[in-house]
Amino acid sequence: MREQLLAAEKVKAIEWRDGVLHLLDQRALPFEETWLSYHAAADVAEAIRSMVVRGAPAIGISAAYAIVLALRARLQAGGDWRAALDADFQLLADSRPTAVNLFWALKCMRDRLDRLKSTDDPLALLEACAVGIHQGDREANLTMAELGVDLIRRHQGNQQNLLTHCNAGALATGGFGTALGVIRAAFHDGLLERVYADETRPWLQGSRLTAWELAADGIPVTVNADSAAAHLMKTRGITWVIVGADRIAANGDVANKIGTYQLAVNAMHHGVRFMVVAPSSTIDMATEHGDDIVLEERDASELLALGGKRIAGDIDALNPVFDVTPADLIDFIVTEKGVVDRPDTEKMAQLMCRKRLH
Ligand code: MRU
Repeated sequence: MREQLLAAEKVKAIEWRDGVLHLLDQRALPFEETWLSYHAAADVAEAIRSMVVRGAPAIGISAAYAIVLALRARLQAGGDWRAALDADFQLLADSRPTAVNLFWALKCMRDRLDRLKSTDDPLALLEACAVGIHQGDREANLTMAELGVDLIRRHQGNQQNLLTHCNAGALATGGFGTALGVIRAAFHDGLLERVYADETRPWLQGSRLTAWELAADGIPVTVNADSAAAHLMKTRGITWVIVGADRIAANGDVANKIGTYQLAVNAMHHGVRFMVVAPSSTIDMATEHGDDIVLEERDASELLALGGKRIAGDIDALNPVFDVTPADLIDFIVTEKGVVDRPDTEKMAQLMCRKRLH
Protein backbone atom coordinates (compact mmCIF):
# COMPACT_ATOMS: atom_id res chain seq x y z
CA MET A 1 0.00 0.00 0.00
CA ARG A 2 2.85 2.44 0.88
CA GLU A 3 4.44 1.87 -2.54
CA GLN A 4 1.10 2.33 -4.32
CA LEU A 5 0.47 5.61 -2.53
CA LEU A 6 4.00 6.86 -3.20
CA ALA A 7 3.75 5.97 -6.88
CA ALA A 8 0.45 7.88 -7.19
CA GLU A 9 1.76 11.09 -5.57
CA LYS A 10 0.84 14.06 -7.77
CA VAL A 11 0.07 17.12 -5.66
CA LYS A 12 2.33 18.93 -3.22
CA ALA A 13 2.06 22.28 -1.48
CA ILE A 14 5.54 22.88 -0.01
CA GLU A 15 9.04 22.63 -1.44
CA TRP A 16 12.34 23.53 0.20
CA ARG A 17 14.98 24.02 -2.49
CA ASP A 18 18.46 25.58 -2.20
CA GLY A 19 17.60 27.40 1.00
CA VAL A 20 14.36 28.91 -0.34
CA LEU A 21 10.80 28.00 0.64
CA HIS A 22 8.37 27.54 -2.23
CA LEU A 23 4.62 27.45 -1.55
CA LEU A 24 1.81 26.62 -3.95
CA ASP A 25 -0.61 29.55 -3.67
CA GLN A 26 -3.78 27.77 -2.48
CA ARG A 27 -5.86 30.93 -2.90
CA ALA A 28 -5.57 30.65 -6.68
CA LEU A 29 -6.46 26.95 -6.99
CA PRO A 30 -7.94 25.16 -8.87
CA PHE A 31 -7.63 27.45 -11.90
CA GLU A 32 -4.06 28.67 -11.43
CA GLU A 33 -1.05 26.75 -10.14
CA THR A 34 1.20 29.55 -8.94
CA TRP A 35 4.29 28.87 -6.83
CA LEU A 36 5.53 31.71 -4.62
CA SER A 37 9.10 31.87 -3.28
CA TYR A 38 9.92 32.93 0.28
CA HIS A 39 13.26 34.25 1.55
CA ALA A 40 12.10 35.88 4.82
CA ALA A 41 10.23 34.62 7.89
CA ALA A 42 7.92 37.65 8.01
CA ASP A 43 6.68 36.85 4.51
CA VAL A 44 6.01 33.23 5.50
CA ALA A 45 4.02 34.43 8.54
CA GLU A 46 1.94 36.55 6.17
CA ALA A 47 1.51 33.57 3.79
CA ILE A 48 0.10 31.54 6.71
CA ARG A 49 -2.20 34.35 7.82
CA SER A 50 -3.50 35.00 4.33
CA MET A 51 -3.95 31.28 3.52
CA VAL A 52 -1.38 30.90 0.74
CA VAL A 53 -0.55 27.82 2.79
CA ARG A 54 -3.18 26.28 5.07
CA GLY A 55 -4.00 23.02 6.81
CA ALA A 56 -2.54 22.26 10.24
CA PRO A 57 0.54 20.15 9.33
CA ALA A 58 1.41 22.33 6.31
CA ILE A 59 1.33 25.44 8.48
CA GLY A 60 3.70 23.79 10.98
CA ILE A 61 6.15 22.66 8.28
CA SER A 62 6.17 26.13 6.66
CA ALA A 63 6.86 27.76 10.03
CA ALA A 64 9.79 25.40 10.65
CA TYR A 65 11.37 26.39 7.31
CA ALA A 66 10.63 30.04 8.12
CA ILE A 67 12.79 29.72 11.24
CA VAL A 68 15.67 28.55 9.01
CA LEU A 69 15.17 31.65 6.83
CA ALA A 70 15.09 33.83 9.94
CA LEU A 71 18.20 32.22 11.40
CA ARG A 72 20.16 32.80 8.18
CA ALA A 73 19.18 36.48 8.18
CA ARG A 74 19.97 36.93 11.90
CA LEU A 75 23.38 35.23 11.53
CA GLN A 76 24.23 37.46 8.57
CA ALA A 77 23.22 40.55 10.56
CA GLY A 78 25.58 39.51 13.40
CA GLY A 79 25.21 40.66 17.01
CA ASP A 80 22.98 38.79 19.45
CA TRP A 81 21.25 36.60 16.84
CA ARG A 82 19.57 34.36 19.45
CA ALA A 83 17.76 37.29 21.05
CA ALA A 84 16.81 38.66 17.63
CA LEU A 85 15.38 35.29 16.64
CA ASP A 86 12.80 35.49 19.45
CA ALA A 87 10.91 38.11 17.45
CA ASP A 88 10.72 35.73 14.47
CA PHE A 89 9.36 32.91 16.65
CA GLN A 90 6.73 35.30 18.01
CA LEU A 91 5.72 36.61 14.59
CA LEU A 92 5.16 33.09 13.31
CA ALA A 93 3.30 32.03 16.46
CA ASP A 94 0.93 34.97 15.98
CA SER A 95 0.04 34.06 12.38
CA ARG A 96 -2.91 31.74 13.16
CA PRO A 97 -4.16 30.57 16.57
CA THR A 98 -5.91 27.19 16.30
CA ALA A 99 -3.69 24.65 14.51
CA VAL A 100 -1.42 23.35 17.25
CA ASN A 101 1.00 21.90 14.67
CA LEU A 102 2.26 25.47 14.24
CA PHE A 103 3.26 25.73 17.91
CA TRP A 104 4.51 22.13 17.96
CA ALA A 105 6.84 22.78 15.00
CA LEU A 106 8.10 26.05 16.51
CA LYS A 107 8.81 24.21 19.77
CA CYS A 108 10.77 21.51 17.91
CA MET A 109 12.87 24.24 16.29
CA ARG A 110 13.32 26.09 19.60
CA ASP A 111 14.39 22.87 21.38
CA ARG A 112 16.93 22.11 18.63
CA LEU A 113 18.28 25.63 18.94
CA ASP A 114 18.59 25.27 22.72
CA ARG A 115 20.56 22.02 22.32
CA LEU A 116 23.20 23.51 19.98
CA LYS A 117 26.79 23.19 21.14
CA SER A 118 29.27 26.03 20.58
CA THR A 119 31.05 23.99 17.83
CA ASP A 120 27.84 23.23 15.91
CA ASP A 121 26.77 24.83 12.65
CA PRO A 122 23.39 26.32 13.69
CA LEU A 123 22.05 26.79 10.16
CA ALA A 124 22.85 23.25 9.00
CA LEU A 125 21.34 21.68 12.13
CA LEU A 126 18.18 23.79 12.14
CA GLU A 127 17.68 23.10 8.45
CA ALA A 128 18.02 19.38 9.13
CA CYS A 129 15.41 19.72 11.89
CA ALA A 130 12.91 21.44 9.54
CA VAL A 131 13.49 18.83 6.84
CA GLY A 132 12.96 16.15 9.51
CA ILE A 133 9.60 17.69 10.50
CA HIS A 134 8.56 17.70 6.83
CA GLN A 135 9.72 14.12 6.24
CA GLY A 136 8.18 12.91 9.50
CA ASP A 137 4.79 14.24 8.40
CA ARG A 138 5.02 12.35 5.09
CA GLU A 139 5.80 9.15 6.97
CA ALA A 140 2.95 9.74 9.43
CA ASN A 141 0.53 10.19 6.50
CA LEU A 142 1.47 6.79 5.12
CA THR A 143 1.07 5.02 8.45
CA MET A 144 -2.29 6.69 9.12
CA ALA A 145 -3.53 5.76 5.64
CA GLU A 146 -2.80 2.10 6.36
CA LEU A 147 -4.41 2.19 9.81
CA GLY A 148 -7.48 4.08 8.60
CA VAL A 149 -8.15 1.85 5.63
CA ASP A 150 -7.83 -1.18 7.86
CA LEU A 151 -10.68 0.20 10.02
CA ILE A 152 -12.87 0.67 6.94
CA ARG A 153 -12.12 -2.86 5.76
CA ARG A 154 -12.83 -4.38 9.17
CA HIS A 155 -15.96 -2.39 9.95
CA GLN A 156 -17.77 -2.20 6.67
CA GLY A 157 -16.16 -3.87 3.65
CA ASN A 158 -16.54 -2.91 -0.01
CA GLN A 159 -18.05 0.02 -1.85
CA GLN A 160 -18.01 2.77 0.70
CA ASN A 161 -19.50 6.21 0.20
CA LEU A 162 -17.32 8.53 2.24
CA LEU A 163 -17.96 12.12 3.19
CA THR A 164 -15.19 14.58 4.00
CA HIS A 165 -15.01 18.23 5.01
CA CYS A 166 -12.52 20.99 4.24
CA ASN A 167 -9.20 19.82 2.79
CA ALA A 168 -7.10 17.37 4.76
CA GLY A 169 -5.07 16.23 1.78
CA ALA A 170 -1.68 16.68 0.16
CA LEU A 171 -2.29 20.43 0.10
CA ALA A 172 -2.71 20.51 3.88
CA THR A 173 0.26 18.31 4.83
CA GLY A 174 3.80 17.33 3.90
CA GLY A 175 2.57 14.15 2.19
CA PHE A 176 -0.67 12.56 0.93
CA GLY A 177 -2.95 13.96 3.55
CA THR A 178 -4.56 12.75 6.72
CA ALA A 179 -8.27 12.19 5.94
CA LEU A 180 -7.50 12.17 2.21
CA GLY A 181 -4.60 9.77 2.81
CA VAL A 182 -7.10 7.24 4.20
CA ILE A 183 -9.50 7.98 1.33
CA ARG A 184 -6.70 7.51 -1.24
CA ALA A 185 -5.78 4.20 0.39
CA ALA A 186 -9.44 3.08 0.33
CA PHE A 187 -9.54 3.86 -3.40
CA HIS A 188 -6.37 1.85 -4.07
CA ASP A 189 -7.83 -1.01 -2.02
CA GLY A 190 -11.01 -1.11 -4.11
CA LEU A 191 -13.15 -0.14 -1.10
CA LEU A 192 -14.45 3.14 -2.45
CA GLU A 193 -17.56 3.91 -4.42
CA ARG A 194 -17.60 7.71 -4.13
CA VAL A 195 -16.32 10.60 -2.02
CA TYR A 196 -18.70 13.42 -1.16
CA ALA A 197 -16.79 16.64 -0.47
CA ASP A 198 -18.51 19.37 1.51
CA GLU A 199 -17.80 22.63 -0.34
CA THR A 200 -16.70 24.17 3.01
CA ARG A 201 -17.88 27.76 3.23
CA PRO A 202 -16.51 30.37 3.18
CA TRP A 203 -13.06 29.43 1.84
CA LEU A 204 -14.35 26.55 -0.30
CA GLN A 205 -11.48 24.23 0.61
CA GLY A 206 -13.77 21.31 -0.35
CA SER A 207 -14.82 22.40 -3.83
CA ARG A 208 -11.58 24.22 -4.76
CA LEU A 209 -8.97 21.95 -3.18
CA THR A 210 -10.27 18.54 -2.12
CA ALA A 211 -12.26 17.95 -5.32
CA TRP A 212 -9.25 19.10 -7.39
CA GLU A 213 -6.84 16.79 -5.55
CA LEU A 214 -9.11 13.76 -5.75
CA ALA A 215 -10.08 14.32 -9.38
CA ALA A 216 -6.37 14.57 -10.27
CA ASP A 217 -5.98 11.07 -8.81
CA GLY A 218 -9.01 9.74 -10.73
CA ILE A 219 -10.95 9.24 -7.48
CA PRO A 220 -14.74 9.63 -7.94
CA VAL A 221 -15.73 12.79 -6.09
CA THR A 222 -18.94 14.82 -5.88
CA VAL A 223 -19.12 18.26 -4.28
CA ASN A 224 -22.13 19.18 -2.14
CA ALA A 225 -23.23 22.23 -0.20
CA ASP A 226 -22.32 21.92 3.49
CA SER A 227 -26.00 22.06 4.35
CA ALA A 228 -26.70 18.95 2.21
CA ALA A 229 -24.68 16.61 4.45
CA ALA A 230 -27.53 15.28 6.64
CA HIS A 231 -29.66 14.70 3.55
CA LEU A 232 -26.81 12.79 1.88
CA MET A 233 -26.34 10.63 4.97
CA LYS A 234 -30.03 9.73 4.76
CA THR A 235 -30.26 9.19 1.00
CA ARG A 236 -26.81 8.35 -0.43
CA GLY A 237 -25.66 5.50 1.77
CA ILE A 238 -22.79 7.43 3.39
CA THR A 239 -20.92 4.94 5.61
CA TRP A 240 -18.14 7.08 7.05
CA VAL A 241 -17.35 10.72 7.69
CA ILE A 242 -13.56 11.12 7.55
CA VAL A 243 -11.98 14.44 8.57
CA GLY A 244 -8.68 15.92 9.73
CA ALA A 245 -8.05 18.04 12.83
CA ASP A 246 -6.37 21.29 13.82
CA ARG A 247 -6.03 20.53 17.52
CA ILE A 248 -7.06 17.56 19.64
CA ALA A 249 -7.43 18.21 23.36
CA ALA A 250 -6.24 15.78 26.04
CA ASN A 251 -9.80 14.47 26.48
CA GLY A 252 -10.16 13.66 22.74
CA ASP A 253 -12.28 16.69 21.78
CA VAL A 254 -11.39 17.74 18.22
CA ALA A 255 -11.11 21.26 16.80
CA ASN A 256 -11.46 21.24 13.03
CA LYS A 257 -12.94 23.33 10.23
CA ILE A 258 -16.26 24.96 11.05
CA GLY A 259 -19.05 22.52 10.22
CA THR A 260 -17.26 19.41 11.49
CA TYR A 261 -19.29 19.43 14.73
CA GLN A 262 -22.61 19.41 12.92
CA LEU A 263 -21.37 16.55 10.73
CA ALA A 264 -20.60 14.51 13.85
CA VAL A 265 -24.05 15.17 15.32
CA ASN A 266 -25.66 14.16 12.04
CA ALA A 267 -23.43 11.10 11.69
CA MET A 268 -24.48 9.85 15.13
CA HIS A 269 -28.16 10.30 14.24
CA HIS A 270 -27.76 8.34 10.99
CA GLY A 271 -25.48 5.58 12.32
CA VAL A 272 -22.59 6.81 10.13
CA ARG A 273 -19.12 6.17 11.56
CA PHE A 274 -16.96 9.19 12.33
CA MET A 275 -13.18 9.01 11.88
CA VAL A 276 -10.66 11.77 12.68
CA VAL A 277 -7.22 11.33 11.10
CA ALA A 278 -4.37 13.45 12.47
CA PRO A 279 -0.66 13.06 13.34
CA SER A 280 0.28 13.14 17.01
CA SER A 281 1.67 16.65 16.41
CA THR A 282 -2.01 17.73 16.32
CA ILE A 283 -2.61 16.42 19.85
CA ASP A 284 -2.27 19.06 22.53
CA MET A 285 -1.97 17.34 25.91
CA ALA A 286 -1.61 20.73 27.60
CA THR A 287 -5.19 21.58 26.70
CA GLU A 288 -7.47 19.52 28.88
CA HIS A 289 -10.79 20.14 27.20
CA GLY A 290 -11.99 21.24 23.76
CA ASP A 291 -13.67 24.31 25.25
CA ASP A 292 -10.20 25.65 26.13
CA ILE A 293 -9.06 25.71 22.49
CA VAL A 294 -8.75 29.16 20.93
CA LEU A 295 -10.95 29.09 17.83
CA GLU A 296 -9.97 31.50 15.08
CA GLU A 297 -12.54 34.00 13.87
CA ARG A 298 -11.72 35.61 10.53
CA ASP A 299 -12.97 38.78 8.95
CA ALA A 300 -16.68 38.89 8.12
CA SER A 301 -15.80 40.03 4.60
CA GLU A 302 -14.79 36.42 3.81
CA LEU A 303 -18.43 35.47 4.33
CA LEU A 304 -20.02 38.45 2.64
CA ALA A 305 -18.12 38.21 -0.65
CA LEU A 306 -17.63 35.38 -3.13
CA GLY A 307 -14.82 35.41 -5.69
CA GLY A 308 -14.12 39.03 -4.81
CA LYS A 309 -17.75 40.06 -5.42
CA ARG A 310 -19.95 41.31 -2.58
CA ILE A 311 -22.97 39.00 -2.08
CA ALA A 312 -24.71 40.73 0.83
CA GLY A 313 -25.44 44.27 1.94
CA ASP A 314 -23.82 46.17 4.77
CA ILE A 315 -24.82 43.71 7.51
CA ASP A 316 -23.30 42.06 10.54
CA ALA A 317 -21.74 38.62 10.00
CA LEU A 318 -19.92 36.15 12.22
CA ASN A 319 -17.11 34.06 10.75
CA PRO A 320 -15.78 31.47 13.22
CA VAL A 321 -13.58 29.17 11.09
CA PHE A 322 -13.23 26.23 13.48
CA ASP A 323 -15.50 24.35 15.88
CA VAL A 324 -15.04 21.64 18.49
CA THR A 325 -16.48 18.16 18.10
CA PRO A 326 -16.91 16.51 21.52
CA ALA A 327 -15.01 13.23 21.94
CA ASP A 328 -18.20 11.27 22.60
CA LEU A 329 -19.33 11.85 19.00
CA ILE A 330 -16.10 10.36 17.59
CA ASP A 331 -15.68 6.66 16.77
CA PHE A 332 -11.96 6.67 15.94
CA ILE A 333 -8.96 8.97 16.12
CA VAL A 334 -6.26 7.62 13.80
CA THR A 335 -2.66 8.75 14.38
CA GLU A 336 0.77 7.43 13.36
CA LYS A 337 1.11 6.05 16.90
CA GLY A 338 -2.04 3.97 16.57
CA VAL A 339 -5.84 4.16 16.69
CA VAL A 340 -7.97 5.31 19.61
CA ASP A 341 -11.57 4.11 19.53
CA ARG A 342 -14.20 6.09 21.43
CA PRO A 343 -11.55 8.56 22.69
CA ASP A 344 -11.36 9.75 26.28
CA THR A 345 -8.69 11.25 28.54
CA GLU A 346 -7.21 7.92 29.60
CA LYS A 347 -6.97 6.48 26.09
CA MET A 348 -5.43 9.69 24.72
CA ALA A 349 -2.78 9.64 27.48
CA GLN A 350 -1.96 6.00 26.70
CA LEU A 351 -1.64 6.80 22.99
CA MET A 352 0.80 9.62 23.62
CA CYS A 353 3.10 7.29 25.57
CA ARG A 354 3.46 5.00 22.55
CA LYS A 355 6.18 5.28 19.91
CA ARG A 356 5.23 5.93 16.28
CA LEU A 357 4.43 2.68 14.45
CA HIS A 358 6.83 3.07 11.50
O1 MRU B 1 -8.50 27.05 7.60
P1 MRU B 1 -7.74 25.86 7.09
O2 MRU B 1 -7.96 25.60 5.64
O3 MRU B 1 -6.30 25.93 7.48
O4 MRU B 1 -8.37 24.65 7.89
C1 MRU B 1 -7.88 23.36 7.65
C2 MRU B 1 -8.64 22.30 8.35
O5 MRU B 1 -9.55 22.56 9.09
C3 MRU B 1 -8.17 20.89 8.14
O6 MRU B 1 -9.23 20.00 8.24
C4 MRU B 1 -7.14 20.55 9.23
O7 MRU B 1 -6.14 21.52 9.27
C5 MRU B 1 -6.52 19.24 9.00
S1 MRU B 1 -5.40 19.25 7.62
C6 MRU B 1 -4.64 17.75 7.53
